[in-house]
Amino acid sequence: MLQVNLSGIQDFAPVETLDYYPTSLAHRALAEHTGEGKEFTGWLNLPERIIQTQLKQLLAGADKIRNQSEVLVVIGIGGSYLGARAGIEMIRSANYNQIKKDTPDIYFAGKSMSPIELAEIIELIGDRDFSVNVVSKSGGTLEPSLAFRFFKAMLEKKYGAQGAKKRIFVTTGSAGALRHIAESDGYDIFDLPDDVGGRYSALSAPGLLPQACAGIDIEKLLNAASSAMQQFSRQSPLNPVWQYATARQQLYRQGRSMEILSCFEPSFHYMGEWWKQLFGESEGKNGVGIFPASLLYSTDLHSLGQYLQDGPRSMIETFVEFRESREDLRIPFEIGDRDSLNYLAGKSLATVNKTVEKAVKSAHISGGVPVISISCDTMDETSYAELVCFFEMSCAISGYILGINPFDQPGVEAYKANMKQLLKSLD
Ligand code: PA5
Repeated sequence: MLQVNLSGIQDFAPVETLDYYPTSLAHRALAEHTGEGKEFTGWLNLPERIIQTQLKQLLAGADKIRNQSEVLVVIGIGGSYLGARAGIEMIRSANYNQIKKDTPDIYFAGKSMSPIELAEIIELIGDRDFSVNVVSKSGGTLEPSLAFRFFKAMLEKKYGAQGAKKRIFVTTGSAGALRHIAESDGYDIFDLPDDVGGRYSALSAPGLLPQACAGIDIEKLLNAASSAMQQFSRQSPLNPVWQYATARQQLYRQGRSMEILSCFEPSFHYMGEWWKQLFGESEGKNGVGIFPASLLYSTDLHSLGQYLQDGPRSMIETFVEFRESREDLRIPFEIGDRDSLNYLAGKSLATVNKTVEKAVKSAHISGGVPVISISCDTMDETSYAELVCFFEMSCAISGYILGINPFDQPGVEAYKANMKQLLKSLD
C-alpha cells in the first residue's frame, strides 16, 4: 500500500503547520465536478469503467497481437505513450526488448520527427512479423500521424491491404482524422473516453493495450487501480494525496519552485517521464507551477548530486521507494580484499541500495532540501496502479489549489499551430 512520509520536510514546513483547508476545497471541487475543466474528470472512475466496458476487448486485442507478431510498434506521443512505456519498464524491465520472453518486442515511434529514430526502428523490425498500435486521442497530432503513414505503408507492402488491416490497432477519441480512417478502413478500434485527457489516460487503452501485449496482468492492475482510486478519494488529512499535495504547495509558496522526483531503481526512468508530463502540462500555466524534473540514483548522484546538495535552494525532492526489491544479490567475498569491500561481503545488494538512499536523503535534508518520501510495496502491477492514481489525484488537486485548469494544455496547442503554419509553407 502506498504511503507518504513527510518527516523530511519538518525543518522547512513543520507538518503541524500544514494548511489542509485549500486542499479540502480543491478536492471537493474535483469530486463534485465543479472545478475548471470538469468535463475532463472522467479518469476518477476510469478503472471501474474499463473493467466493465473494455477489459475483454483489451485482453482479446493483446492476444491477437501476441499471436501474430514478434514485434509491436506503439505509435503515440505524450500521454499517448508514456503510461504504457512507464508500466512496461517498471513492471517488466527497462531492458524489456532484450530480456528472454514469449511476448513481442515493443518499439515506441511517433514521439519525434527524427528520421534517424524512425529508420532505426524500421531496421530493428527487419523481416519479423509485426503489428501497430497507433494511439492519438485527437487523431490529428503530426508526429504520430506521420509515423503511422510509414508503418501503414510498410504493413500494406508486406501483408497486402487486407493483411495490414488485421495488424493495425487504433486507440483514439470519438472524433478526428484517425477515427475516420480507422472506421472507413475497418481497423480494430479501442475507444478513448472523451472525458479523459491524454496525460490522465494511462489506466485506459493507451496504457493498457501495450502493457497487456508485454505480458502485464492488466486485470490485476485495474483492480488495484480501482481500490486505489477509492482510497485516494477520501477527503481527509490522512489521505496520502492530501499530504503530498498540501506539502508541495506549501513549499511552493515558500519559494520552492522546482520538484525533483528521485528513485534508486533505473527501471523507474519512464515513470519519471510520465510524472513530468502529468505535472508539467497540468500545472505550468498562467505564470505559476512547480517545474518537474526527475533523477535516477546512483547514476545522477555523480552528475547532478552536487547541484542538489549545494546549488540554489529552490528545490523540493520527492523520493519514490519500493519496500521490497523484486530481485536481490549477495555481494561476493574476495580473497585478499584488494578493493577493501569485504566489509560488505555476504550483504544483500538491495539493503545496500536502501542504505545509500537513506544516506542521500539525510545529506540532502541537511543541505537544505525538503524531502517527501512516497513508498510502495514492490515494482509490480499494484504499485504502478497506486502510483498512477496517487499522482493523478495529487496533480488535479494541486492544480486547483494553484487556481489553474489542470486538464488543458494551451501552451502545447500554441506550438502545434505554429508548426503547422511553417510546415505548410515548405517548398
Ligand atoms: O495530455 C495531453 O493531452 C497531451 O500531452 C497529449 O497526450 C499529447 O499531446 C498527444 O495528443 P494526442 O493523443 O491527441 O495525439
